[in-house]
Amino acid sequence: MTQDIDFRRSVVYQIYPRSFADSNGDGVGDLPGIIQHLDYIADLGVTDIWLSPIYASPNDDNGYDISDYRAIMAEFGTLDDFDRLVHEAQKRGLRIIMDLVVNHTSDEHEWFQQSRSSRDNPYRDYYIWRDPSGYTTEGKPIPPNNWISCFSPSAWEWDEPTQQFYLHLFSTKQPDLNWDNPKVRAEVYDLMRFWLDRGVSGFRMDVINAISKDPEFPDDPRVTAGGRESSLYLIANGPRVHEFLREMRREVLDDYSTLTVGETPDTTVADGLAYAGFNRGELNMVFTFEHMMLDGNPDGYGKWWDGKVDVPTLKQNLAHWQEGLAGKAWNSLYWNNHDQPRVVSRFGDDSPQWRVTSATMLATTLHMMCGTPYIYQGEEIGMTNVAFPELSDYDDIEQRNAYAQYVDKAKIFSHEQMMHYIHARGRDNARTPMQWSATKNAGFSTGTPWLKINPNYRELNAERDVADPRGVYQYYQRLIELRKKYPVIIDGDFQLLSPDDPYTFSYLRRTKTDTLLVTSNFTEHERSVAVDSNPGYRLILSNYEDKEKTTPESPLRGYETRVWLAST
Ligand code: GLC
Ligand code: CA
Repeated sequence: MTQDIDFRRSVVYQIYPRSFADSNGDGVGDLPGIIQHLDYIADLGVTDIWLSPIYASPNDDNGYDISDYRAIMAEFGTLDDFDRLVHEAQKRGLRIIMDLVVNHTSDEHEWFQQSRSSRDNPYRDYYIWRDPSGYTTEGKPIPPNNWISCFSPSAWEWDEPTQQFYLHLFSTKQPDLNWDNPKVRAEVYDLMRFWLDRGVSGFRMDVINAISKDPEFPDDPRVTAGGRESSLYLIANGPRVHEFLREMRREVLDDYSTLTVGETPDTTVADGLAYAGFNRGELNMVFTFEHMMLDGNPDGYGKWWDGKVDVPTLKQNLAHWQEGLAGKAWNSLYWNNHDQPRVVSRFGDDSPQWRVTSATMLATTLHMMCGTPYIYQGEEIGMTNVAFPELSDYDDIEQRNAYAQYVDKAKIFSHEQMMHYIHARGRDNARTPMQWSATKNAGFSTGTPWLKINPNYRELNAERDVADPRGVYQYYQRLIELRKKYPVIIDGDFQLLSPDDPYTFSYLRRTKTDTLLVTSNFTEHERSVAVDSNPGYRLILSNYEDKEKTTPESPLRGYETRVWLAST
């Protein structure tokens, strides 16, 4: 058995390759583009790069629909480019983590092509096929149950030639694999080895807690009651998921040194312990979604809303994970990824006056907690949400489907309302191209970018931010340096202070010898914080300049954050 990567000391940088850097002017980011910017990533001080999917794909869901697990998407480059990327990353002390998307494949994958070709094809059982539950009076087949998919009204798609439905939790072009079939699992383990043998250092596992389905396929009671949200909550954490993950560890991961993180929507702290417990033999950590769901629609229409999060609810939720996993499992720490709006716009203030201050405040609040921090491309320069005027300015399938359901079909939201919600929560907020410079197309591409650039790139870009000692990038560098310098950031326990204070987020981290105090103001107004004075406290980081006059008790100015350390 090989030792895992020291994931407790990792800092992961996530790249969404399509939007990162385009080296050949076709408007689409690519692997050579990533290679050109490796120094930029390494200089941040991170240890690992997680690449969103780079496999062959028809891009119904931008690479999360894979048609060949052993090929690179043609637009992104070749296997040679990939080998060069791994090599160039290694030279800079960076490991490459791949996205493992194995809850489903593309419908264009060879396995599905075979599977749908006839009922007795050897690949039939690679996917989940079911007879209709009946027929309407007009003779239309009725799906096996009422499950709603994440990207379309029904989770079942009728296949005319073989007269059965197949299950797809996401788009109709993303059929779910049948993990109960041992052949499917063997295929997955095999493709994992293919990439590990090529120098990959682990996996971020896409909706990995959805791989095991309840064989009864029960109706979704929320849908029965008229709900419109997806049935993923019901399907997640199914009966055999832990068995499968342990098998995966035994069959594959134990032979390599890896970092593994599961994307696990609809998981509680108890689930987190089950997936990522130190002695469970499953994953190193999971991505909780709980703190990302707190500002959702109050009437049960999913994430489509534009209200601000309640600060006590947010910090209490994060504290619940910090305390719940302490000493037993490991947390991942994130505000952003390719599915979430930009955090500075969401939990901070992206106006010119407060953008940098609130971005650095949020970064500090996150990075000083216990866990492995994830930084999503552009977060390290404080990139913001975007508000394109037309639906046609956008690409994301989730946004398009939500618009079709809530505006066109159910008429629950007006066009204006829905555009407002897309501006606040849509996934394309994270996917507009990386803003490298003030030149044409933000230096992302010399051609026409696949998705429009955020018009604020002339003021907000990496070239400008990196050069600014008061910018966001250099601040992230300092955060990562602190983590390397002070073991209390890795090892300390966690205690939330003033859990009900509506404006500030403060906590302690403690080891036998050190106490770290983090205080952050989530508003633009001056706020006081109640803290136990410790004469030994010295300020080790702050996002305001005049450090000398400050004490732990002095009120926090707008979006101010401070990190104090006392050692015995
Ligand atoms: C995960 C991915 C998301 C994708 C979905 C289906 O949630 O992060 O981008 O659409 O899985 O693969
Ligand atoms: Ca390109």
